[in-house]
Parts: sequence; C-alpha cells; structure tokens
Amino acid sequence: MKVIVADPCGFCYGVKRAVEIAEGAVNSLPAATLGPLIHNPQFTEELAAKGVGCKDSLDDFAPGETVIFRSHGVGPEIYEQAIEKKLKILDATCPNVKTSQRKARQAFEDGYLPIIVGEKNHPEVKSILAFAGNNAIIIERKEDIGEVPFVSKYCVIIQTTFELAKFEEILQALQAARPGEYRVERTICLATRQRQEAAAKLAVEVDAFIVIGGRNSANTRHLTELVSALCPRCFQIETAGELSPEMFQGCRKAGISAGASTPERIIKEAVKAMENMEINKVEGNEFEAMLDE
Ligand code: F3S
Repeated sequence: MKVIVADPCGFCYGVKRAVEIAEGAVNSLPAATLGPLIHNPQFTEELAAKGVGCKDSLDDFAPGETVIFRSHGVGPEIYEQAIEKKLKILDATCPNVKTSQRKARQAFEDGYLPIIVGEKNHPEVKSILAFAGNNAIIIERKEDIGEVPFVSKYCVIIQTTFELAKFEEILQALQAARPGEYRVERTICLATRQRQEAAAKLAVEVDAFIVIGGRNSANTRHLTELVSALCPRCFQIETAGELSPEMFQGCRKAGISAGASTPERIIKEAVKAMENMEINKVEGNEFEAMLDE
C-alpha cells in the first residue's frame, strides 16, 4: 500500500513556538502550563517528564512559580490574577489568537456587537470572548443565530481553526436573519487553511485516510469532518497503536494528515506502521462493493 502524507500537516507555527517556550521553561522551574499546552496527551506527558507540569487553575500556583499560557490564550483577568499572585509569566499565546483578541476588543470599543463563530467550549474562543466586552456572543452553528440580539452594528470574528466553508454558510444565514452593518474579521489562520486544503486535495485521491491528533483537538476534528465528506474510509487516531489491517483492506493508496498539535514523531510512526502493514489483497470489484456498503 502506498502511503501519502498531506503537505503541510502537523505542528503549525503557533504550536512550535508554544512548545519552544514550554521546553525553555525547564530553566525557570518550578513551572507549569495553565491547562494542557497543546491538545496532545502524549506530548503533555513528555513535557511533564521534563519537569514542566500542567495545572488547571491559578490557585494551584505558589508565588514565584512560572506559569505558561498556552497557544489558545487567556482572558485579561487571568493576566491580572497572575501578576497579583507574583507569578512569572511565559506567554505562549499564538500571535494569530492575539490578533483575534485585539480585533474583538476593538469591535467592542467601536460600538459593534462582537459575534465569535466557533466552538463554545474551546479555550481559544473563551479567551477571545473575554476581550470582547459584556455583550459578546458565541455561535457555533446556524441554529444558534436565534440567540443573537437585534442591534445595528455586528462584528463577526472566526475561531482560528474553524472550517472556512462552514463559517461562510453561518455568516450568510446570520446576515439574512440579522440585517445591519457588518464588520467581518476572517481570522481563520493560514496554517489551518493550508492544512485543510492539502487534506481535501489528498482525500479524493486515496482509498483510505488517517487523521492523527488528540481527540479533544478542535482542528484535528475539523480535518476529520472535512476528509470524511470526501473519502468514504476515514479514521481519526491518536497514535500508531490504533491502526489495524482491517482499516485498509483492499486499499492501494492511503492518505495521512495530522492536526496542528500532532508531533512529527507520531506522524512518522503511523507512516511506518502503515507501510509495514500486512493487508489482505481484495480485488478491484470487491473493493468497490465494500465502499458501496
Ligand atoms: Fe496559531 Fe493557527 Fe497554530 S492560530 S496555534 S498558527 S493553528
């Protein structure tokens, strides 16, 4: 079976930067991230083994300790609390997320109602919301539009890892349901867009597709949704250990992509496992029939 890896895939610029900052924190121990640095449990464990742990709340930090803010960012009140607690701050917020936070704040100050299109429980979306003033609202799907109040000026901001096509659909429905003046900030990041485009292009050329990434990683989930619509046999895995020959019965070509927080080592392990896999040969017609099932 031929294995093709989508290009680009895996670690994005913001995650690479956050990883470098966190790994550098071994020089300022005791140090911990506020929440998992990236949505990849294997990597979080490796970081903990180096002495940089993960804490869920600022209450768990003692004065003088180093706190690392992850790439998703935090709200202004978290910065204030950390300063008050006399913690050393290492800010690994992705510059793209900072831009979204700034745009949300600016919209609020300019009298717009900030509407963030993204996953309600995602830490990045929450961090943007925290900068967007008291009336800001998050919408995740078209069905949420009913919650948006009628005002004269709206500013729409998109979660950096959201699926662009889905966003355009929501935006169209929003503008129809809530007419008014619109400022639209297409803050989906380039790294996400490039990964989605590369995966979509590859998905139509292969018989099976593997998306690698943490189960709680939003951008990995979006990649899986996108690919599943184009390739009938798509699986999301966290590690190569989840791969099995049954996934590739009759396949001649398989594609791989990985979320922005998937380390290269994990991608390489999956490629190796797939290339060495013993797959029972299923002839052409039989394979087509399997796909039709
Ligand atoms: Fe930043 Fe985009 Fe990565 S927002 S963390 S570069 S997916």
